[in-house]
Amino acid sequence: MGAEQKKFIAMRPISSSSVWLMAAFVGYLCSMAGAQDARLVILPDGGNIIRPVGANIVLTCKGEVPDPELISELRWLGPNGQELPNGDRISSEELVSDVGRILFIKGLQEADSGKYTCSAVYTSSQRLEAHVNLTTIVGITWEDAPTEQSAIFGQPYKVRCVVRANPPATIDWQKNGVGFTTNNQYVIENDGVLIREVSLEDDTYFTCRARVQTTGQLEDRRIRVEVFIPPEFIREPVNTSIVEGEGGYMECQASGKPDPVYTWLDRNNQNLNLNRERFIVDEQTGRLTINDAKRTDEGEIKCLVENRAGKIQKTAYLKVIMKPVVVEYLNASGIMGREVSLTCKASGDPLPEVTFLKEGTLIPYTPGVQNSDDRIIVDTSREGEYAQARLVIRDLMRSDDGLYACIAKNNGGNYTKNGHITVEFPPSFALSPMSEAWSWDNHLVNLTCRAESIPNATISWFLNGRNLENDYNIRMNAFNGESTITVTPIDLSYYGTYRCLATNIHGKDEKAIELREARAPGPLLQTKFETITATTITFNFIGPVDNGGLPITAFAVQYKLAGQVWDEKPLQRVWVVGGNEYYDMHDSIAHANTDIPYILENLEPQTIYSFRFAAKNQVGYGEWSREETHTMPKRAAPEEPYIIAKTENKVVSTPYPDRYELLWSAPPNNGEPIDYFEVAYYPVRNTSAGLIEAGQLVRTQVPYPANVRFEMKNLKADTIYRIELRAHNVIGFSAPAEILLRTAKDAAAVEEEDLSATISPRDPASPSQSAVKAGTYVIIGVIVAVLIFIALVIDVSCYFVNKRGLTYMICSRSGRNKSNGRSSSNKNAALMEGGKEEHNDEKTPLREVTVEFQDACRETPCAEQQQQQQQTTQVDQPSPALINDDQKELIKDDVTDINNGLKKSASKSSVAKDSPV
Ligand SMILES: *[C@@H]1O[C@H](CO)[C@@H](O)[C@H](O)[C@H]1NC(C)=O
Ligand SMILES: *[C@@H]1O[C@H](CO)[C@@H](O)[C@H](O)[C@H]1NC(C)=O
Ligand SMILES: *[C@@H]1O[C@H](CO)[C@@H](O)[C@H](O)[C@H]1NC(C)=O
Ligand SMILES: *[C@@H]1O[C@H](CO)[C@@H](O)[C@H](O)[C@H]1NC(C)=O
Ligand SMILES: *[C@@H]1O[C@H](CO)[C@@H](O)[C@H](O)[C@H]1NC(C)=O
Ligand SMILES: *[C@@H]1O[C@H](CO)[C@@H](O)[C@H](O)[C@H]1NC(C)=O
Ligand SMILES: *[C@@H]1O[C@H](CO)[C@@H](O)[C@H](O)[C@H]1NC(C)=O
Repeated sequence: MGAEQKKFIAMRPISSSSVWLMAAFVGYLCSMAGAQDARLVILPDGGNIIRPVGANIVLTCKGEVPDPELISELRWLGPNGQELPNGDRISSEELVSDVGRILFIKGLQEADSGKYTCSAVYTSSQRLEAHVNLTTIVGITWEDAPTEQSAIFGQPYKVRCVVRANPPATIDWQKNGVGFTTNNQYVIENDGVLIREVSLEDDTYFTCRARVQTTGQLEDRRIRVEVFIPPEFIREPVNTSIVEGEGGYMECQASGKPDPVYTWLDRNNQNLNLNRERFIVDEQTGRLTINDAKRTDEGEIKCLVENRAGKIQKTAYLKVIMKPVVVEYLNASGIMGREVSLTCKASGDPLPEVTFLKEGTLIPYTPGVQNSDDRIIVDTSREGEYAQARLVIRDLMRSDDGLYACIAKNNGGNYTKNGHITVEFPPSFALSPMSEAWSWDNHLVNLTCRAESIPNATISWFLNGRNLENDYNIRMNAFNGESTITVTPIDLSYYGTYRCLATNIHGKDEKAIELREARAPGPLLQTKFETITATTITFNFIGPVDNGGLPITAFAVQYKLAGQVWDEKPLQRVWVVGGNEYYDMHDSIAHANTDIPYILENLEPQTIYSFRFAAKNQVGYGEWSREETHTMPKRAAPEEPYIIAKTENKVVSTPYPDRYELLWSAPPNNGEPIDYFEVAYYPVRNTSAGLIEAGQLVRTQVPYPANVRFEMKNLKADTIYRIELRAHNVIGFSAPAEILLRTAKDAAAVEEEDLSATISPRDPASPSQSAVKAGTYVIIGVIVAVLIFIALVIDVSCYFVNKRGLTYMICSRSGRNKSNGRSSSNKNAALMEGGKEEHNDEKTPLREVTVEFQDACRETPCAEQQQQQQQTTQVDQPSPALINDDQKELIKDDVTDINNGLKKSASKSSVAKDSPV
């Protein structure tokens, strides 16, 4: 433009003044035109631009000038008036198509707001400027408002809600959907709500609401506030003791929210939760279990309890008890009368108490002098890490010898170790009983002495001052504290006083033993003939006074028929006494056991014998006594048998309701062999007047020699039976042996009781079956009566026709019977006696005999057979009377003889009564 003006001037040099004026005018016009048209325009239009933070913006500045050539220095200035630098975020560049400049701002920041200016220079003198106000705004932003917050119970807490907004937002609060303002519980502040003291109510939702009036923005945020409770001990750990090697536990328990976590730390603050070997922590209960406690575990142990609200801890002491151990305890020995001590040393933690207990006693010694025995003192002391006790016994006695237990005890247990006190003492023969010994005829004899001593004594033997060590006739033997010499007394010089001498370091003792010469026993004082039967004699020996120095080993009798001379080997019977087992070649019989009573058997009846007697010891028989002569009685009925039963007041009880096995032993037979035994029994009733018969009699013969037993069957339960047993030989019956039998109660025996009830008329309620049985009995009775009647008729007719039969015999003997002097009433009183007399008794025409064949029925179910056999049969009693009158006289004599001498049977009552069928 400047160049065009110069050209214009140079081309028109007409009038300088008018040209100048024109030029000035044109210049003026030009300048007027330039001032009007040159300006800068900023796009977007409006002067005020509002953009949110973070947005991008572009500002364009255009020059509107007449001559764009004349624009220079076009630029953008920032809010602070400085030119904007060209960077990454903010940059500017020239407009390509037009005159102008573009400003780029990326990622608007709050600080970018302000007045931006676009400036330029026009025609080198005119300054052009344009402005735009850029305002950045900030939306509602949750600057610090976590949706989950935790408060601690009891403490102040601010529920944080910091909101950023530009223009700023207004905040209000809700708790559980209900709005609230500042009150005495909550203070609403810029950055949140302050809870003055957190309570459990605050464990809920708070809502923070923000709004901006100018922009109309609204946001809210729900905040979960959780109230935590710091841990508090429910159970604190306490001092605990655990025995070494054993287990135990420590407790630690606390409440809190959330559930607290437990940690145990040992004295070195090592976490025991991590030591899984011997320590177990229960995370729920907090309990610490300790296994196999070690000494090194001892110390302070800490329980740490922690949750998000807080942390507490407690320390307790873990004591590891060391069980006591006796580490040193030695045997001791002392001399009688002096003093001895035993020392016992024990370890343990806590230090054990140490005491002593003597074997065989129950109460340990107490420290100090014993009340029970002031010779005994216990001292206790502490020796470094050991406890020590010392047992001192003064004035030692032999009874102090023995085992002494050392007992070390603490609360972990006890430990016992035995020690021995040996009491040494000089020899003593107090327990050596032998003071005399006997020998004869070079018989070896042992002399024994027992010396007690500690230490062991040496023993030597002397006879009459002579040491016997090298004597050929003496053998010495030592065993177990005993010294025995075996002496062969080859001559009288070996009889005398032997001395046994014991010596040890503490002294000596001696014991005398007399060796005497033994003799055969002296004479018997007396020999009694105690019991005499037709074939046996029972002797009783009294004496001898002098046993010859040795115990009596046997009694002997030698016997011969009277009138003969003693020959070389007379008949002899030897009874061994004292139970010594020995065999003597001189005896005709060898015996092993004591042979009491002294019964001489197998003698001949009605024979006169001479007897002589002697006692015997190991030396031999003593002097034979003076000869005694005795006449053996006549043959007779057997002796009374002996019933083998366990009686109480003459009553034997059977455990069975219906049976009993009767056992007996056979008596001497008085010269004739026993052919059978007769068992008779019947039930009796116990009345005030005594026992009276109350049922049927059963009578049985048991053949002999075969049985000495009889099984009684079909007995009634809970009933007393009288049982009589007689032995029989051809001469007659023995006196009866009698017992009472009580059968057991038994419910199963009801049927049997019914049976007896039908027999008894007193029972009105008889079952029909029993009635039938009763009828059967009546029929049998009638038949029997008819038979008897027929027999009587036949007999009487025989009497008249043939002068024979029973009636004939009765009539022909009646005269002689009167002279016998025994009335029949007498016989009823001595019923069993009748067994022997029945041969004479014509008034007993019939006897009821029940025969049972024992062997056939033994152990076999033969009830039917038995019933048949037990049917009573009528036996014509005197028919087997093969004995002549003289013999009967003889038997009677015998009976009287025996009654006077040995028997008591005459007073007995009997079941062998007349049976009035
Ligand atoms: C820009 O803002 C200022 C004050 O902040 C004001 O004086 C000025 O007039 C505004 N300019 C425009 C173009 O609006
Ligand atoms: C626990 O043991 C320690 C150390 O032995 C002791 O100091 C403390 O008194 C004991 N506490 C209780 C309660 O016994
Ligand atoms: C020693 O301990 C045992 C059990 O281990 C017990 O039976 C006994 O009574 C204790 N002895 C003493 C003397 O305490
Ligand atoms: C102590 O005496 C007892 C019994 O006599 C014995 O068993 C034990 O071996 C002895 N101990 C010592 C160390 O001699
Ligand atoms: C004597 O003692 C010895 C053993 O010491 C023994 O064999 C013998 O049988 C005894 N003799 C007599 C008669 O006691
Ligand atoms: C002492 O005698 C006893 C038997 O009484 C025996 O067991 C023991 O061995 C003896 N001692 C010595 C040292 O001979
Ligand atoms: C009989 O009865 C009397 C008195 O009741 C009693 O003492 C006696 O022992 C009884 N006899 C038998 C054998 O039961």
